[in-house]
Amino acid sequence: MAETLSGLQAEVTRLREEYKRELAAVSSTTELEEVRVRWLGKKGNVTQLLRSVGSLPPELRPAAGQEINSLRAEVEEAISARAAEVRAREQENRIREERLDLTLPGRRMPLGHLHPLTLVLQDIKRFFIGLGYQVVEGPEIETDYYNFQALNVPRDHPARDMQATFYLSEDLVLRTQTSPVQARTMERQKPPVRIIAPGKVYRVDADLTHSPMFHQVEGLVVDRGIRFSDLKGTLAEFARALFGQDRAVRFRPSYFPFTEPSAEMDISCMVCGGRGCRVCKGEGWIEILGSGMVHPQVLEMAGYDPEDVTGFAFGMGVERIVMLRYGVDDIRLFFENDRRFLARF
Ligand code: FA5
Ligand code: MG
Repeated sequence: MAETLSGLQAEVTRLREEYKRELAAVSSTTELEEVRVRWLGKKGNVTQLLRSVGSLPPELRPAAGQEINSLRAEVEEAISARAAEVRAREQENRIREERLDLTLPGRRMPLGHLHPLTLVLQDIKRFFIGLGYQVVEGPEIETDYYNFQALNVPRDHPARDMQATFYLSEDLVLRTQTSPVQARTMERQKPPVRIIAPGKVYRVDADLTHSPMFHQVEGLVVDRGIRFSDLKGTLAEFARALFGQDRAVRFRPSYFPFTEPSAEMDISCMVCGGRGCRVCKGEGWIEILGSGMVHPQVLEMAGYDPEDVTGFAFGMGVERIVMLRYGVDDIRLFFENDRRFLARF
């Protein structure tokens, strides 16, 4: 430590060289902060030098103090000048590293959308809700009683063969139709009834127009004075709403144990326009629903008085309706989830 003024001055000169060298070597704000602490901090070089002034003879102290203070001012200034440089350099680097190439083509996000079955189901619901129907649901695992017996199909009745059934046990089945929801609704509710019941149903069945799992929408209307003309008018209007005014529609006499009389409704084939092809099996028509006047015995089993009220019911195949509407010629396409197919809707 300096004991004379000239000794101190030599020390200051040496330190001046040193801080300049250190500052020149700094390349980041972190390093710069280290330099600042080493020089101006509590134990920094300049601070310690200032403390050593006390060991000088008193008459030298003011000059020494001045000398050191001007070194301190010089270091402070040099550090802040260097800080500006270092920060500018750091920012430049960051900008270079984070640069975006705006000419790169964007990454296309595939846009999801509703499945065609969902879309058509929404249209079906909208139509019937507009006529004042309520939407209700029932279980997919159904008792033999509701799936068959309450619909006038006792055990061992030959009509069971109309729908090849997945039996889960003696008394439980995967429901083969949405019709059990009719029986459940009538048990719960007094007339007037106006409901639709959409949902999945299951049958041992598979070809171009038959799938082992498919969707039906059941409809049931019961009130005083309901007639077959109400059924016909409602379903003809439904067909016009879904397929347009010009599509050919026909009612064909049929049989269901739970309706009397019964009719099925066909729409002209979407593939051949009615001439006959492999999809409609040469018929020119594709069946979309079964329907009829609710059998008096079914009303009675549900606790209604068939002398007082009458009703009609129908059960439509949703896949068939989508096929007819969009010209889909194979029912399996709905369940393969091939994005090229789904993107068409
Ligand atoms: C029934 O299921 C009756 N429950 C319909 C009914 C309800 C009649 C109320 C009277 C009163 P059917 O088995 O015909 O009927 O089936 C109705 C519709 O479901 C058919 O018209 C067809 O559109 C569709 N469908 C039937 N089987 C399949 C299948 N395996 N795959 C796809 N759709 C089918
Ligand atoms: Mg049928």
